[in-house]
Amino acid sequence: MSLSLQIDRESRCPIYQQIVNQIKRQISIGDLPAGTRLPAVRHLAFMLGVTRLTVHNAYAELQADGWVEATVGRGTFVKAGLEVEALLAQHLEHHRHRLHYCSDMHRLLNTGTLLALAYAVPDISLVPSTQILEAFNQIKSDAAALLHYGGQDGDHELRIELTEHLKERGINTLPDNILITSGATQGLALITQTLAQRGDKVLVEVPTYLGQMKVFNVMGVEPVGVPMDEEGVIIEKLIDAIEKHKPKFISLIPNYHNPTGVLMSEERRLAVLDIANHYRIPIVEDDVYGLLTYEEKAPLALKALDKTDNVIYISSVSKTVAPGLRIGYITANAQLLDKFTQLRWATELGGTPLMHRALAIFFREGHFKHHMKRILPIYKERRDAMLSALRRYMPTHSTWTSPRGGLCIWVKLPPKGQYNDLYPAALMRGIVYTPNEAFFTEYSDEYYMRLCFGSQDPSTLETAIHVLAELIYERIELYQPTRITV
Ligand SMILES: Cc1ncc(COP(=O)(O)O)c(C=O)c1O
Repeated sequence: MSLSLQIDRESRCPIYQQIVNQIKRQISIGDLPAGTRLPAVRHLAFMLGVTRLTVHNAYAELQADGWVEATVGRGTFVKAGLEVEALLAQHLEHHRHRLHYCSDMHRLLNTGTLLALAYAVPDISLVPSTQILEAFNQIKSDAAALLHYGGQDGDHELRIELTEHLKERGINTLPDNILITSGATQGLALITQTLAQRGDKVLVEVPTYLGQMKVFNVMGVEPVGVPMDEEGVIIEKLIDAIEKHKPKFISLIPNYHNPTGVLMSEERRLAVLDIANHYRIPIVEDDVYGLLTYEEKAPLALKALDKTDNVIYISSVSKTVAPGLRIGYITANAQLLDKFTQLRWATELGGTPLMHRALAIFFREGHFKHHMKRILPIYKERRDAMLSALRRYMPTHSTWTSPRGGLCIWVKLPPKGQYNDLYPAALMRGIVYTPNEAFFTEYSDEYYMRLCFGSQDPSTLETAIHVLAELIYERIELYQPTRITV
């Protein structure tokens, strides 16, 4: 097999990195088997119209990452026994099991070999690392103190900044009424452990975000799905589910829901709040996508309409600034917040004050607002590119959502197709999306995919959708209706 490379000179990704990524991908999907000799630096530079140094840097990185080995006088060869092959095999074996799905996926994506449409994350190249490092520089004189155990609610200065930040989400609160957590995920875990016990039920929108179900699963709490439509959770179904299952709380993602991207309508918001009040069931609002908005001013939080303090609000900076900061926050009524705080203290003490303070400075210096202004048009362009590729390439009878914000598009495939092997087939073509089964509380015989557009540039998105559409067409052709003979 021979190497095939395409250089996009308009891309934000440096050329040497494009070469590295494409070679890694071709190795991982078997197009460049172990032992394949890569073209000589001079030859490849000439063929691509780039400098020798660019190719040299690409080969050096491939070698440093263990993908190729170079022998003086003989050339550069693809190495045998690559970890990614083993990872792929393992992932294919248990991609249907939710508990392993996220960790496998994380390891696979870290190999840098796949076109990732599976992860609702910010693009790594858009993370404001310079400003974050500058913020660390500014806290040098306080660093020793900030490396001690922190207070139980998290850094006071960050909580002051967050009160201002929450005001813009329509939430008026005080620093003492905010608990800083390790991401929204820890927030949800604290809430679940406080409000529910093994065997209890909680209501979730269906489809819903995989990580949320994972929290419930490991705690022995049963998520019961309430169907949603383009306005959010369906009110009649919510009432039925409350009466039938007596849930401990209702978990919702009202703003740019994961995986559908749906923005809950005002009418539904008011109805949901009324119902939860009537049955005295707390609502947990997860607002991690609320500020990733492409068509309108950011919609306010559901909690902004909450007159009875029945909404427990969680969010984080994972989708806006950087998931690796692991900083989220909860605000809720004082009694509940105290319980969450005690549980957090018992299980993790005070979090990471140094990180908290750096983020406080990031907010205080105006970097957050500036950063959002920079990234929103980029994500909007990517969303538009994915939507236009879907229109262009997908077979008729496929449908998809057109989200006004967030990072995900939810695609439904035509009913007449044999999609059982679509996921592994896409992986073998180097593309990874999140399949159906990750998002449902019960078996669904319809086939959906969640496609995330945040981490790829528009031309890569178009290529990926084109390939996926080809694979889907092949599986529609294979479709044979099941014959039942009686
Ligand atoms: C709806 C939702 N909530 C929470 C998270 C995770 O947030 P964090 O990184 O703050 O724990 C995600 C990540 O995909 C998400 O989609």
